[in-house]
Amino acid sequence: MSFAFTPERKRLFKELVKRYPDKRSVTLPALHLAQEQEGYLGRETIEALARMLGSAPSTLMDTVSFYTMFTTRPRGKYLLQVCQTLACSLAGADQVVDHISKRHQIKVGETTPDGKFTLLKVECLGSCGTAPVVQINDDYYERLTLDKVDRILDKLA
Ligand code: FES
Repeated sequence: MSFAFTPERKRLFKELVKRYPDKRSVTLPALHLAQEQEGYLGRETIEALARMLGSAPSTLMDTVSFYTMFTTRPRGKYLLQVCQTLACSLAGADQVVDHISKRHQIKVGETTPDGKFTLLKVECLGSCGTAPVVQINDDYYERLTLDKVDRILDKLA
C-alpha cells in the first residue's frame, strides 16, 4: 500500500518545506508527521518520504534507526519505555523490565499479541531523582516498585 499524507498533513509538510533552506532539512519533522499519521514508518512510507525530500530511502532509514522515537513496526496502544540509565538502573530498572516482560510474556522490543503493550528500554528520561521511571505514552510514572507497576498496568489492561 502506498503512502500519502492526509490533506492537513500535506499542508503542514509544505509549510515546513518553506521554512528550511532545502527539503532534506525537513527530514525529522516529516518523519514525525508520517509516524503520527501511520503509527509507524513502514517501507512504503520511507520510500514515499525519500521521494518527497529528494533523499535516498537508505539515508532516511539511517535516521529512523538512530532515534528510538521512530519505529519501523507497529507499536502497541501503550508504549512502555523503561529508563535503563544509571540512576534508574541502580534503583531497580532491570527488575521492572523483567517484571513487565514476565507479566506480559514479551521481550524488550516486542508487542503483546493483543496489540496493547510494547516494551522498550530507553536512555535517561530526565527524571533521575525519581528513579526508577517508566514513560507510558506521554506520561511518566516514577519511584516505581513492582506493586506500583502492577497497579499501573492493571488500570491500562
Ligand atoms: S537515569 Fe532514569 S531518568 Fe535519568
